[in-house]
This record gives sequence, structure tokens and C-alpha cells, in this order.
Amino acid sequence: MTILICVGSSCHLSGSHDVIELFRKAISDNGLSDKVVLKATFCLGKCGRNGVNAKIDDEIVTGRTQNNFNEVFNKYVLSRVK
Ligand code: FES
Repeated sequence: MTILICVGSSCHLSGSHDVIELFRKAISDNGLSDKVVLKATFCLGKCGRNGVNAKIDDEIVTGRTQNNFNEVFNKYVLSRVK
């Protein structure tokens, strides 16, 4: 699985760095480092949504925040790679 976190201007202002760190920690804590590649990417064309946007494999997932991170990680990552 490849997770691309948008670090374009809009997402950067919404907290890309914090979301990347949350993904990095969750991937490590769940022992998924050999199954999930985490990268930054430029604008995914979904600016203007609340929160940070990401692309998980071929699916764009909008609106990541620190508040909904666990729900999103479980739904889009844990349930698909384990
Ligand atoms: S800056 Fe993130 S989708 Fe445009």
C-alpha cells in the first residue's frame, strides 16, 4: 500500500506535517513498515476541503485531521493491509 500525503499549500496550512507524523507513528506501532509506503506529494486537486488530503493507493481521501485520524487509519489502512 502506498499513502501519499498532500503537502501543497492548502493542506500544509491544514496540518500536513502533523498528519504525516500520525501516519508514521501508526504504521510503526502496527508493525506495517514493510507493507505500507508513506510519502509526501504536491497538490491532489482537492484544495478547499477541511483538513489534509491524501491518496491511499488509487483512492483520494479528503479531510484528514488529528481528530479523525484513528477512524481513517482503521478504515483505509488497517482493514486493507492486515
Ligand atoms: S493542496 Fe492539498 S489538495 Fe491541493
